[in-house]
Amino acid sequence: MSSDAADAYERHAAGFLAARDHSSVGSKVVARWAQTLPAGASTIELGCGGGLPISKTLIDAGLNLHAVDSSPSLCAIFQTRFPDVPLQCARVEQSDCFGRQFHAVVAIGLIFLLPESDQQRLIRKVATLVEAGGRFLFTAPLETGEWSDANTSITCRSPGQDHYVSGLRAAGFARLAVLKMLAPTTTMTLCGQAELLCPASGAMRTTA
Ligand SMILES: C[S@@+](CC[C@H](N)C(=O)[O-])C[C@H]1O[C@@H](n2cnc3c(N)ncnc32)[C@H](O)[C@@H]1O
Repeated sequence: MSSDAADAYERHAAGFLAARDHSSVGSKVVARWAQTLPAGASTIELGCGGGLPISKTLIDAGLNLHAVDSSPSLCAIFQTRFPDVPLQCARVEQSDCFGRQFHAVVAIGLIFLLPESDQQRLIRKVATLVEAGGRFLFTAPLETGEWSDANTSITCRSPGQDHYVSGLRAAGFARLAVLKMLAPTTTMTLCGQAELLCPASGAMRTTA
């Protein structure tokens, strides 16, 4: 997998934090979503950054959080802020994600940083991390296209809603939903939610 986004966020960690620490983008939809999970649900956040505002929102919701991020600088800040949260400083594609499954997986602002083929690999990896009946919340544009990441200027790519939906279904996710994250006039700001169904008889099944 490409290391571009991981390297870029490490290089731009200070500038990213300066902006993100004062931004509430995503926190409301994450807070509402967290309330729909079982109390204390085991949750892993992929690409947690410095933990504000998303990790804090998950913790405040009472979830049992684990986290992964590739940036040593952001991980160091995260650890000072949330010393009780188990944290792996690793690329998600290389992390063993604590060698266990979780009820919920959260990836805010991560998937579209990866090359398209790696995005699908990540969805398949998430499917192995989520317990049967568990949930996956992530952000990705509904639109198809490329744009320059505001934090690092790297090129981000979205294959679009149909591609994400078919990729999620192929990985075993169902009960897909799109949650609006920002004003409808703003593009590339939507949250996708998916639920991994319990395999019926050894094989993963999907429903519409
Ligand atoms: C746009 S920021 C989002 C951070 C956080 N989720 C938030 O909403 O504030 C993307 C994060 O993904 C991390 N990242 C980039 N590539 C990664 C990779 N391959 N594996 C793990 N983390 C990665 C970056 O270090 C950065 O913290």
